[in-house]
Amino acid sequence: MQKIRVGIVGAGGMGEVHARYYREHPDVEVVAVADTLVEKAYDFAGRWGIPKANVFSDYVEMFDQVRVDAVSVCTPHAVHAGPAIEALKRGIHVNVVKPMASTGSEAMEMYRAAKESGKVLMVCFHTRWSPELQLAKRIISSGSLGEIYYGEATLGGRRRGIPGWGGRRPSFITRDMAGGGVLLDLGCYVIDNFMYVLDHPKPVTVTAVTASAIGPQREAVVEGVWSWDPSLFEVEDFVAAFIKFDGRLAILLKESWAMHANTLGSSFLLGTKGGLKFSPFELYRDEFGYMSTSTFTLPQVDVYGEAMRAFIEAVKRGGPPPIDPREIVIEMFIMDAIYESAGKGKEVEVKIPSMLFN
Ligand SMILES: NC(=O)c1ccc[n+]([C@@H]2O[C@H](COP(=O)([O-])OP(=O)(O)OC[C@H]3O[C@@H](n4cnc5c(N)ncnc54)[C@H](O)[C@@H]3O)[C@@H](O)[C@H]2O)c1
Repeated sequence: MQKIRVGIVGAGGMGEVHARYYREHPDVEVVAVADTLVEKAYDFAGRWGIPKANVFSDYVEMFDQVRVDAVSVCTPHAVHAGPAIEALKRGIHVNVVKPMASTGSEAMEMYRAAKESGKVLMVCFHTRWSPELQLAKRIISSGSLGEIYYGEATLGGRRRGIPGWGGRRPSFITRDMAGGGVLLDLGCYVIDNFMYVLDHPKPVTVTAVTASAIGPQREAVVEGVWSWDPSLFEVEDFVAAFIKFDGRLAILLKESWAMHANTLGSSFLLGTKGGLKFSPFELYRDEFGYMSTSTFTLPQVDVYGEAMRAFIEAVKRGGPPPIDPREIVIEMFIMDAIYESAGKGKEVEVKIPSMLFN
C-alpha cells in the first residue's frame, strides 16, 4: 500500500502534535508544511524530515505544488475554514483541530465543501475517545438516569491560564486570529462532551454573558502563570450560558481562562432516576432502598492518538469520518447564539440550518 501523504498547515504547538502522531503511523508520511511564519515552517520541516522544497508560507501554494492525500489544519481558530475548504475542493481529506472554526457560517461552508467532495472532514475532538465520556454515554443510553432535565458543563475554569505563549503568539487572544476567547477554546469541548453523551439533543434558546475581565489587565500577568500580552487581548476570558433544549433539558455552561477563584466546580447531569458527575466520575442512584454512589476504574487511554488513528483509518477507507461534522457545525451555531445573546443582553434562538438535521 502506498503511504498516505500528509501536509500540515500551521507549524505551531498542534502542528507538532499532529506530526508526531503521523510519524508514529506506518501508513503515513508528512511531506509538506505551510506557515505564514516561514522560518518556523523551515524549523518544523527540519524536525519532521520534510524536504526544504516542500516548505511554504502560503497553504494555497503548498496544495498547488505538492501532491497530498490529507491535510492537518493546525492554525488559529479563525484560520481553520480557509485551508480546510481549499483542501476539500481539491479532493484532499481534512483533519482540523478544535474548535471547527470561529463561527457557525464558516463551519457550515466547511461541511458543504466536504459533502460536495465526498472527502473526510474530521474535527479532531480527541475527547470523544475518553473513557469517562464513553462510560457516561453508555450509562445514559442504558436509561439508568431516567429523563435528564438539568446539567452543568465546565472544565472547572482556570484561575489564570490565558493561552498567550509568553506574549509571543497572539493566536488565541486577538479577534482576527481567534475570533473569540475561552468559549471557542474550552467551551467547545464542554459543549461537544455534553452533546455527545446526551445523543445530540436539539438546542432551542440561549441566554449568556461573557466578560473580558482579567485579560486586558497588565497587573494580572502575575508570577508563575502562563503569560500573555494584555495590550493585545480582545476576546472574552469568562462565559456563562444557559442553554435550553427541545423537551425540558437545560444546561448551564461555565468556563474561564482567568478569574479570582480556584474553580467553577464540576460538570454534572441530573436525571429522574440517577445523576452523574465528571472528573472524578461518580454515578448517583437509589438502589436496594438506599442512596448509592458508584465509582469506576477507568483505563488510561492515549485519546489524541486514538483520534489520529481513527482519522487515518477513515482516509484509508475513503470515509465516513469518525465524527460526523454535522454534529460539530450544530455546536458552532450554539456558540454563535451564546455570543449573540451576550452581545444583545437577552435570550436568543439557536438558529440552525435545516439541512443539518437531514
Ligand atoms: N488538544 C487539542 O485539540 C488542541 C490543543 C491546543 C490547541 N488546539 C487548537 O489548535 C489551534 C492552534 O493552536 P496552537 O496552540 O498550535 O497555536 P500556535 O500559535 O502554536 O500555532 C498556530 C500556527 O499557525 C500559524 N498560522 C497562522 N495563520 C496561518 C495561515 N494563514 N497559514 C498558515 N499558518 C498560519 C501561526 O504562525 C502558528 O505557527 C487552535 O485552533 C487551538 O484551539 C487544539
